[in-house]
Amino acid sequence: MYMDNKNYKERIESNRELMKSAFTEKGHKSDQQKQLPQPPLAKQSVNENKIALTKDFSGIIKESNILTIINERKSHRVFKKESITLEQLSFLLWATQGVKGIRGDNYATERTVPSGGARHPFEVYIAVINVEGLEKGIYHYLPLSHELELIRLLDNVENAVVESLDNQKWTGKSAAVFYYTAIPYRSEWRYTISAHKLVLLDAGHAAQNLYIGCGAIGCGTCAAADYNQELADKLLQVDGKDEFVVYTAPVGVI
Ligand SMILES: Cc1cc2nc3c(=O)[nH]c(=O)nc-3n(C[C@H](O)[C@H](O)[C@H](O)COP(=O)(O)O)c2cc1C
Repeated sequence: MYMDNKNYKERIESNRELMKSAFTEKGHKSDQQKQLPQPPLAKQSVNENKIALTKDFSGIIKESNILTIINERKSHRVFKKESITLEQLSFLLWATQGVKGIRGDNYATERTVPSGGARHPFEVYIAVINVEGLEKGIYHYLPLSHELELIRLLDNVENAVVESLDNQKWTGKSAAVFYYTAIPYRSEWRYTISAHKLVLLDAGHAAQNLYIGCGAIGCGTCAAADYNQELADKLLQVDGKDEFVVYTAPVGVI
């Protein structure tokens, strides 16, 4: 997208405003204050056939010393050709977005990561390239039941992944790619124009837990924000307006 200088300056300024705190702005009632219905805590499944995921992670933890995991954390872009197991994928999904409980009368999810106001505005999709027991394709995580559902099978998923990630070739050699979409209204309902800053801050927490989780099971990841918005949204079959990709992270055995 090309912008003239004026447009560019305006956009820089408005993006900088987005980085600031807008909590002190008065005079605008949130949809929550207007008592409009709260959006769902997580997206409904679209496929009746679900893939159950385990929460028994005792067999896959290789490193449980938190100091070692933190000291050794780094981004990995080179992976072994090995598959990851469904247990490993299950653990990483749990680490990055797992639901531990429900707060109040379905008011919020309690998860393994923090989120501003516990709005948890993300959905997680997995492009499966090399995961034991799963065919190649696009899957959606159902955090409330800790299950996966198939969105669609895709033979050439590696190529689709690389294209969606702005031709970063290493991404196609991972075992699975985590795509985080945001559903902004989950946060906007409560935080109006402050929501968008919070959503992006939340994304960092989710990805950090993925790094930490990988460090515990002999896997590696590299957060990747350089992706093609249109192709990534299309790959996951999300509308690009009320739900769109904000972050990605290819994972593999290291
Ligand atoms: C928000 C964010 C976006 C990133 N996007 C990319 C990316 O698109 N491609 C890539 O190769 N690395 C990406 N990285 C990884 C950084 O390059 C990496 O974290 C940085 O070089 C520091 O290295 P380390 O993570 O090994 O400490 C990203 C990291 C973050 C936190």
